[in-house]
Amino acid sequence: MKLLVCGGAGFIGSNFVRQRVRDHGDEVVVLDKMTYAGRRENLQDLEVELVVGAIEDADAVEAAVGQGFDAVVNFAAETHVDRSISGPEAFVETNCRGTMVLLEAARRHDVARYVQISTDEVYGSIDEGSFTEESPLQPSSPYSATKTGGDLIVSSYFHTYGLETVICRGSNNYGPYQYPEKLIPLMVLNAFHGDKLPVYGDGMQVRNWLYVEDFGRGISHVLSHGAPGEVYNIGGPEECPNIDVVKRIIALTGNDESLIEYVTDRPGHDRRYSLGSEKVRALGWEAQVHFAEGLEKTVQWYRDNEWWWAPIRSGEYREYYERHYGRALG
Ligand code: NAD
Ligand code: DAU
Repeated sequence: MKLLVCGGAGFIGSNFVRQRVRDHGDEVVVLDKMTYAGRRENLQDLEVELVVGAIEDADAVEAAVGQGFDAVVNFAAETHVDRSISGPEAFVETNCRGTMVLLEAARRHDVARYVQISTDEVYGSIDEGSFTEESPLQPSSPYSATKTGGDLIVSSYFHTYGLETVICRGSNNYGPYQYPEKLIPLMVLNAFHGDKLPVYGDGMQVRNWLYVEDFGRGISHVLSHGAPGEVYNIGGPEECPNIDVVKRIIALTGNDESLIEYVTDRPGHDRRYSLGSEKVRALGWEAQVHFAEGLEKTVQWYRDNEWWWAPIRSGEYREYYERHYGRALG
């Protein structure tokens, strides 16, 4: 296929592009604004064209989509919940308005398939059981509210204009190339350096962990076999409280639990996510990587790839980290 992958220089997007090029032989063009989270290094081993541009920039989008593609896959987003709490504007601009601009170009150019990458966070928090695709949308954070807005705009383009859209709602991803503002790489890199491990609140919030390659395979199933206008949940095989994730990382890096520091909780923190994935399983997808195996592989990847994270830790990330956690943790 010939694919336009928006946000393909970020964590999940670049892993997806790698899968598509290597396993499917696709021709891929990446459109990416190259925010702090978009990195050329994430694609440097691949032969893909990288177009630097924002999905909310109608001219850039028109030029890119106008090249003609079999499908557009949209990963482009502001993605970090904590950053959305301190500055929601960019989230509205990219996750809502950008999605609309991209859909508009896809519609004008009769793109045969539009895939929106979304999140389990649109459903909010669940104490027991699991979310299905029919669960009410009850986002809690500015991040998840803007992702919900994006999803609703996508659905409107299916119902109103007949654009063949599908939406993939993934649970918490982890794996290579994840920017270290997120829980797992943050804890891994802090543990490597013997730095404190900042656990929000009581650490008993539960996340449904999904290895990034499993998410990519799920997206490919939906891209090829999903029904137009439908939503597909793609959830990880295991749920785990944050504190257990941190303790596993401590064990894998040969540290001890004195590194754990309980810090002020995230405002509006969702307690538990749990995603039912029966619908995508019916398309033939199954998660292949268990959490223990995926976490070990992930820690090893960060151990082997200091060239990738060393420049990040000394740049914008350092300022963000000090602002968010305070110098005391550094
Ligand atoms: P990321 O922050 O690592 O990457 C986001 C990418 O989008 C970056 O390359 C960035 O430069 C690009 N981008 C940001 N704003 C843009 C804009 N206006 N125009 C074009 N490009 C822009 O994020 P990620 O974790 O790889 O997430 C990718 C997608 O998957 C997002 O839509 C996110 O909501 C969704 N998602 C993430 C997870 C997760 O656990 N990380 C889980 C489910 C769904
Ligand atoms: O569920 C899917 C979502 O997962 C995606 O849509 C988001 O883009 C992605 O960022 C992620 O959101 P979370 O808020 O769940 O991920 P994060 O890695 O920020 O946090 C995971 C859990 O760990 C959460 O309960 C907050 C907690 N946490 C996080 C950080 C960064 C800590 O306890 N300490 C920390 O320092």
